[in-house]
Amino acid sequence: MRRVYVYMQLPDSLETVTLGRLDTRAGVGEFVYNPEYVAEGGWVPDPIRYPLRAQVFQAITKNQGIPGFIRDAAPDGWGERVLLKTSDGTLDALDFLLKSPNQDRAGSLMMGVAKTPPNGVGQAGISRLTALDEFIAFADNIQNGFPKLTDEMARQALRQRSSLGGARPKCTLRVDDRLILAKPRDRHDDFDVPALEFAAMSFAASKGLHVAHVELHRGKASTLLVDRFDRRATNDGKFLRLPMMSGLTLLDSDWKNPAAHEQEWRYGLLVDEMNRRQVPVEDQHELYRRICFNILVGNDDDHPKNVSVIFDQGRWRLSPMYDVVPCLDGSPPPRLAMAVGKFGHALTRRNLLSQAAHYHLDQTQACAILDDVASWEADLQAHYREHLAEQEQRLALAAIGGQRLLV
Ligand SMILES: Nc1ncnc2c1ncn2[C@@H]1O[C@H](COP(=O)(O)OP(=O)(O)OP(=O)(O)O)[C@@H](O)[C@H]1O
Ligand SMILES: [Mg+2]
Repeated sequence: MRRVYVYMQLPDSLETVTLGRLDTRAGVGEFVYNPEYVAEGGWVPDPIRYPLRAQVFQAITKNQGIPGFIRDAAPDGWGERVLLKTSDGTLDALDFLLKSPNQDRAGSLMMGVAKTPPNGVGQAGISRLTALDEFIAFADNIQNGFPKLTDEMARQALRQRSSLGGARPKCTLRVDDRLILAKPRDRHDDFDVPALEFAAMSFAASKGLHVAHVELHRGKASTLLVDRFDRRATNDGKFLRLPMMSGLTLLDSDWKNPAAHEQEWRYGLLVDEMNRRQVPVEDQHELYRRICFNILVGNDDDHPKNVSVIFDQGRWRLSPMYDVVPCLDGSPPPRLAMAVGKFGHALTRRNLLSQAAHYHLDQTQACAILDDVASWEADLQAHYREHLAEQEQRLALAAIGGQRLLV
């Protein structure tokens, strides 16, 4: 049996409590809330699937036994690869959860082996932006396979571990009172992906979508710098953590069970889940606009980890938009990662309109959004011409699919 204690920084507070305890055995989990926390009647991230109660939640089988709201604080491809470099044996899902650093985890949860959270847990250990070049060199080495791990490389790898999700190289860095997610160009990228991501996201921001603040750093490797929206600096140099849950968790889906994704990965279901958690209607409208935007720019990597909710000022809100990149196939993608309407993945106006009511939009409002986003096409082309070099420009222009919003 393997065990991890789950800590949580309370919303709007620097106080960290023990939320509960997770045990796993052969990929099956048991989670129980801390009895003191139950007695206090404290706030919990997922009261729908994991309501506060004294009884144990047994036989958790999704996500290798880890409840989704906890799994969201574990790494994916990148963080797992770095961790594997520093270990001699195989690692399971609980190892990835436990051995990843607490300082950069998404949201407000942290992990440890002690029953009570160590003092100052998760507050230290983030490097300054000046360490970016060191990270780029490190990421480059990892991508290159680290032919032989020297002691120095192992020490570096330990320093560079990351709990953040996603497949691409990334680390969190600090600039004064901002925390920034840095995503450098991958050595295996044929194209300048950070520049493409910057172009798509900065264009969305210029059209009034709610986008994580992005900058493009042209250093040793071109690197996208994204402000972390799940942290807020306090006056004394610490950071408040905003609770965060992925769309994958809202949909109660298991990343490693692709057979179920066709049924589960549907924007209509996602917005229903947001509605259940009282995400405001204006955010539901924004989600609809983002689906249209994904079609416009041809971003088909819109899987449900690339959309989240954050708990801010007492309610769940749609997070700012992140990880939007035009597809690189030389044509608009045939489908998005999630179904967009009653007719599944069909990228047609009829399908997009078919579930407008789920977003609290009437047909006139939904049509207005489709027409509005489609009308951005010429501005998008101009934006790409201004911000992208020739090859990237060609691909980004070829991915534009705004016409589908109209027919
Ligand atoms: N600005 C941000 N603030 C807080 N958390 C973020 C931010 N951007 C991304 N994240 C979190 O980090 C994860 C990884 O980031 P991102 O999706 O940009 O990386 P990626 O490696 O390109 O992902 P993918 O594997 O989907 O291509 C996201 O799923 C999200 O949980
Ligand atoms: Mg992602």
